[in-house]
Amino acid sequence: MIISGPASQHLAVKVASILHDELALCEYRSFPDGEAYSQIISNLDNEVVIIQSTPTDKDIIYLLQLLDICKGLNISLVIPYFGYARQDKIFNNGEPMTARALASAMNPFLGDKSEVYLINIHSTSILSHFACRSRNLDATHLLAKEIENLGLRDPIVISPDKGAIAIAQTTATYLDTPFDYFQKTRLNGTEVYMIPKNVEVNAKDVVIIDDMITTGGTMATAAKLLHQQGANRIFVAAVHPVLTGNALIKLYRSGIKSILATDTLDKAISTISVASLIAEAIKFDSLRGMC
Ligand code: R5P
Repeated sequence: MIISGPASQHLAVKVASILHDELALCEYRSFPDGEAYSQIISNLDNEVVIIQSTPTDKDIIYLLQLLDICKGLNISLVIPYFGYARQDKIFNNGEPMTARALASAMNPFLGDKSEVYLINIHSTSILSHFACRSRNLDATHLLAKEIENLGLRDPIVISPDKGAIAIAQTTATYLDTPFDYFQKTRLNGTEVYMIPKNVEVNAKDVVIIDDMITTGGTMATAAKLLHQQGANRIFVAAVHPVLTGNALIKLYRSGIKSILATDTLDKAISTISVASLIAEAIKFDSLRGMC
């Protein structure tokens, strides 16, 4: 039985349809003081798959509520977008490792047979904070397939910082194109500085690819640099379209042609579905469990 949290309903419907599994009827609302309320109305099987991204603090609470309702069952937990993944280290004294704190809050509900699935998690070290088996699913090939359909001319793939080199490299290999990367320093939550390294982009179509777009500052800065260096058309692609505030406006003002993103977060631009990736992983693990 597939249980969809409020943040991942479209995606959960697609996963349920691929797996021919029942989608549980759930209700989500808020009490007058803002506290979250969740209820699973359907009768539950012994084996459940919970799918819930956690872009907001409230989504984390909904997820904990679902885990509590399912306590004692065999739970597979899919968190397509894991909020706080960038708080994966203690950067300064006195700070928490929030990604670890969140995994620790979920662990009491996960048994020996449980499996946690994350998608292009910002730092794979987060997997180790889960007490049960955990996997990082890679959606890069899904993005690369769509990029191939753009009909690019003499393309190059660029990672806007060192952190996304692996995604850029995989994409470039799939497309059989060169790739390069920028060096980024974050100045604050919305601004970044990039060393204006010269990249061979003159008259080329460029794809800038990253794990996530949050405020759009990283992509917009990279796009401006690439335009200055004579790039032809610039496309941006990301697994997780967080897109806070005026991110979309910022991106289009920087001269990009279009944005490709997956549905780990349910946005208007989430046209590439990770449903098959999730379904295949669940099917594979459930077959393995029978062996
Ligand atoms: C950070 O290391 C991530 O990989 C992204 O580069 C970052 O989250 C993008 O943030 P923003 O869109 O706010 O620049």
